[in-house]
Amino acid sequence: MFYQIYPRSYASSDPSPTGDLAGIEARLDHLSWLGVDAVWISPFYPSPQADFGYDVADFCDVDPTFGDLAAFDSLLAACHERGLRLLVDLVPNHTSDQHPWFVAARSGRDDPRRDWYIWRDGDRETPPNNWVAAFRPVPAWTWDDATDQWYLHQFLPEQPDLNWDNPAVVEAMHGVMRFWLDRGVDGFRVDVVHGIGKEPGLPDDPPEMAGVPHATLNDTARTHELIRGMRELLDGYPGDRLLLGEVYLLSTEKVARYYGDGDELHLAFNFPPLYTPWDAARWQVQIADTRRHIDERGAWATWVLSNHDNVRHRTRYGGEPRARAALFLLLGLRGSPVLYAGEELGLDDAVVPPERVVDPGGRDGCRAPIPWTGAPDHGWGVTDAWLPWPPDASNRNVEDLVADETSITHLYRRLLAARKSSAALRDGDHTPVDVPDGVVAWRRTAPDGSGDRILAVNMGGEPARLTTVTGTVLVASDGAGEGDEFSGTLSADRAVLVDPAD
Ligand code: NOJ
Repeated sequence: MFYQIYPRSYASSDPSPTGDLAGIEARLDHLSWLGVDAVWISPFYPSPQADFGYDVADFCDVDPTFGDLAAFDSLLAACHERGLRLLVDLVPNHTSDQHPWFVAARSGRDDPRRDWYIWRDGDRETPPNNWVAAFRPVPAWTWDDATDQWYLHQFLPEQPDLNWDNPAVVEAMHGVMRFWLDRGVDGFRVDVVHGIGKEPGLPDDPPEMAGVPHATLNDTARTHELIRGMRELLDGYPGDRLLLGEVYLLSTEKVARYYGDGDELHLAFNFPPLYTPWDAARWQVQIADTRRHIDERGAWATWVLSNHDNVRHRTRYGGEPRARAALFLLLGLRGSPVLYAGEELGLDDAVVPPERVVDPGGRDGCRAPIPWTGAPDHGWGVTDAWLPWPPDASNRNVEDLVADETSITHLYRRLLAARKSSAALRDGDHTPVDVPDGVVAWRRTAPDGSGDRILAVNMGGEPARLTTVTGTVLVASDGAGEGDEFSGTLSADRAVLVDPAD
């Protein structure tokens, strides 16, 4: 399983409103205690922070806010000493407009870097096509006054898209991958990887998609070729190195194609379940889709409910009981879970007053700093961090929750341990279990004949009688009855992991 760290918000090694790499290193005990296998760190590269690090001005260095390359090497070594894998965030679709490549490209039409980005002629009133940028419903094109051409940006104007049809760009980005792989990273989370290839001729998006960001629609054969190139590079390295791609297409069927024939991504984010409400029928559809499109093609799914781009799932689902029960989906369904730092504390999104809003995409709430203690500075040495603290941080903080064995943090630890010690939960097959409406239940069958496991999650709003689930409760979302025979009744917003009697 993976654990995502948003470095501005995780921990700081000295009194500061923003986190840093040494701060992460100092907190690795928490991750080992929890049972994390691998860490993915969101971008820490030099950046003007127009998109909080996803606008990279130098792919091969560390922004002074977060430390330096020596701090990175030290963090990587510390992770490896503990048996933790480390993925860095590769941002191949775009650079910052302050990246020297774009500064050069913009300096004149004849500059050798000009063709590293995507430029089009036209008149300054009419963008070259109808593509819409992310974050705000504006064209994905900005007119450059100095050189009288449009440039493409699927995100902010400060994030011009690279032109991956130029072999020099492919080579440069491969160079970036080599830079980090040579340092010893275990792989990459690849930002909007489905965006890098563009349909020849850049055709309009269909009229019925008017207003939908092109970044959620870009899906072309060229990208698959480019990903195969990245995979080949990775496969040339010793050890297990991993490509975990962000494929932000809201169709599991489309996402699945990015696994290729075992020659593209090792793993891809699949976001439709993240956008699925607390509704058993809707979850059953997502699970069936994942089985059909990902499992049945021999690929390995991922499950994610929270990240730095979305309202935390505790806040979406409404309350801690559901956040606890949702963990049984994340850790119990076939595939690899990707947890977002702070969900093990059951954090809600912070309430961010208008004067403190900083993100152009409205995502500040889920990026609130992690409260490490109940003191007014919450372990950061300053009382005012870069964003407001999440609600109830004087109680809902690492120190207090680790001290309380009944806390959600301990539930994360127990269920992670149960997963680690069960071949059925790690790699077992999935079979739906017949249960009343409102409940999702499934069996995981151990590949080696060791014990099966049954999981059941009640999203139905009232207690459910489960006649098909019998056996010993190993873990319960509220901790009740662990070690006892399952009573046969699962109350609302509760989940259990059962060692079946049969
Ligand atoms: C996806 C990242 O997760 C998001 O935070 C970012 O704004 C966009 N890609 C653009 O890089």
